[in-house]
Amino acid sequence: MAILPQQLRSLTPARLRDDVRLRALGVGLGLIPPRQMHSEDDARLLLDAAAGARRAVEIGVYEGSSAVALCGALASDSELHLIDPFGAHPDALPGGWGATEWATRRAVTRALRARRGDAPTVRWHVALSHEVAAAWPGEQVDLLFIDGDHSQAGCELDWSSWECFVAPSGRAVFHDARAGRPGGRGLPGPTEVVNELFRGSAAQGWGIVAEADRTVVVQRRA
Ligand SMILES: C[S@@+](CC[C@H](N)C(=O)[O-])C[C@H]1O[C@@H](n2cnc3c(N)ncnc32)[C@H](O)[C@@H]1O
Repeated sequence: MAILPQQLRSLTPARLRDDVRLRALGVGLGLIPPRQMHSEDDARLLLDAAAGARRAVEIGVYEGSSAVALCGALASDSELHLIDPFGAHPDALPGGWGATEWATRRAVTRALRARRGDAPTVRWHVALSHEVAAAWPGEQVDLLFIDGDHSQAGCELDWSSWECFVAPSGRAVFHDARAGRPGGRGLPGPTEVVNELFRGSAAQGWGIVAEADRTVVVQRRA
C-alpha cells in the first residue's frame, strides 16, 4: 500500500512525477506504487494466463506493477523469473523514463512479504532477455510474458529466444500488441510480431486464446 494518497500524487507536476530518481525513491520506499502499465482487461488476461503456472518468466519489469500482480497470484510452489537490464531503453519506455533496480526489487519484496510465507520464489535476471535465454538451463516455462523491447526486432528476438522453452499447453502473453484492432491499443512492433506469427497461416503449433485492450494471449498446442 502506497503512503501518499492518489489526490496528492496527481497534483505533482509531470516534470517531477516522471523524474527517474524521485520515482525510484518513492517506489523504493513504498511512498508511491509502481507505475501502472496495464489496464484492468490487460491484468485480467495476464492473471488468467498465469493460473496454474509452475514457472513464469516476465520480460520487462520496469517498476514492477505486473510483477507485483504476478507475485500476488502465483502459487507458493511456483517460480517467477523477472528479467530486466534496468536503466533507460528508448525502445521500451517513453523518452526520459527509466527503471531502477533497487526500487523495483523493494516493491517486489514488499509484494512477496504480503503473502506471509505463502509466496512464489522470485529469481532476478538483470540482463537482456536474449542473454538470459542463452544461459537458460532448458527448464520448461508455463507462462511467458513479453513486455520488454517494443521495437519489432526486439520483440521478435524475445519471442525467438524463448519460444522453444514454453511447455506444451503453455501460454505466452504479448503486451501492447493490438494497435489498430477493434477496441485494441498497442504499439507497431509487438502488433506486427503478433500479426505475422499468429494471425496468418504461419501460426503453426500456436493459437490465440484470448485478447483484449493491449494484450494478446497465445497457447502452444499440446
Ligand atoms: C513497458 S516496460 C515493462 C512494464 C512492466 N511489465 C509492467 O507492467 O509494469 C519495459 C521494460 O523492458 C525493459 N527492457 C528493455 N529491453 C529489454 C530486453 N531486451 N530484455 C528485458 N527487458 C528489457 C526496460 O528496461 C523496461 O523496464
